[in-house]
Amino acid sequence: MIVVTTPTGRIGGQLVRRLLDRDEDVRVVVRDPARLDGTVRGRVEIVGGSHDDPAVLDRALPGASALFWLVPPNPRASSAAEHYLGFARVGADAVARHGVGHVVGVSSAGHGWPTPAGVLSAAFAMDAELGRSGAAYRALSVPFFMENLFGQLDAIREQGAFHLTGAADRPLPTIATRDIAGTAADLLTDRSWSGQEDLPLFGPDRLTPDGMAEVISQEIGRPVAYHRMSLDDFASLSRSRGLHDQAVRDVTEAFAAHDDGIYDKDWTIAHTAPTDFRTWCREVLKPAADPQGP
Ligand SMILES: NC(=O)c1ccc[n+]([C@@H]2O[C@H](COP(=O)([O-])OP(=O)(O)OC[C@H]3O[C@@H](n4cnc5c(N)ncnc54)[C@H](OP(=O)(O)O)[C@@H]3O)[C@@H](O)[C@H]2O)c1
Repeated sequence: MIVVTTPTGRIGGQLVRRLLDRDEDVRVVVRDPARLDGTVRGRVEIVGGSHDDPAVLDRALPGASALFWLVPPNPRASSAAEHYLGFARVGADAVARHGVGHVVGVSSAGHGWPTPAGVLSAAFAMDAELGRSGAAYRALSVPFFMENLFGQLDAIREQGAFHLTGAADRPLPTIATRDIAGTAADLLTDRSWSGQEDLPLFGPDRLTPDGMAEVISQEIGRPVAYHRMSLDDFASLSRSRGLHDQAVRDVTEAFAAHDDGIYDKDWTIAHTAPTDFRTWCREVLKPAADPQGP
């Protein structure tokens, strides 16, 4: 039995479908089962609740040989570190209590970065905590999700632009969530691995934000430019959207670390995921940006 957290999320949802395609027995932990994909609902065991609740994990983990672990993003958490550690402490205790042998977690690239990196440091702390469970553990150490651009669909459509805080000419490593789900599915089904390791996994491109803009323009068939936003402007925008100071710090520290090269070391040793940015734009971004299609 493979237990999957966040089965309604981008990675978790794609993972469940891949596991079912391989005829695996799957149990999901979900806050609201009604939000599960209809094609999935009748084919999985369902445990209702959140995976930061020990009682929920006590219902989810008996008989589990492997667990997919993902801490839901929560930009409104009072502190990213406490948010990730809150989930991870409960998860590590439950994994140990139920003797789950293998755990695959979604983390961030950049382990070992020497200065605070906000939400990224919180993910590294999560890994250390899960390691305490004694289970074999792989921390999928991934860079910037291509799907983050969904947050900019309106700007892409209406202003022909997308905005990030990184330098226009500094390569930005990316990954498609389908490839994170694919690697997680491989690890969860072939459990011949042991020990606790980070597994850096990066998409195949070396595109700068300007280069990404060029690819987006070509694929969606209209001009899109990259606009760099300063960290100060980003922080002000976040505050105007109601984020409190620590939450703003958690994100701006992470973006500053991106620009200072937190991903560079892992990029040199990473496994290369199959989906390149152009293919992702064609197959995923374009249909979302242009739902009427040609
Ligand atoms: N974005 C990036 O560039 C990036 C890079 C590296 C790592 N990461 C990591 O990737 C993860 C995000 O993965 P994703 O994109 O697949 O997430 P996602 O699509 O935002 O999915 C979030 C999931 O969490 C569930 N959820 C939300 N709040 C919850 C709660 N309190 N208790 C239990 N479940 C809850 C949601 O389910 P319901 O709402 O249906 O309950 C949903 O299934 C984060 O851990 C992030 O740190 C992100």
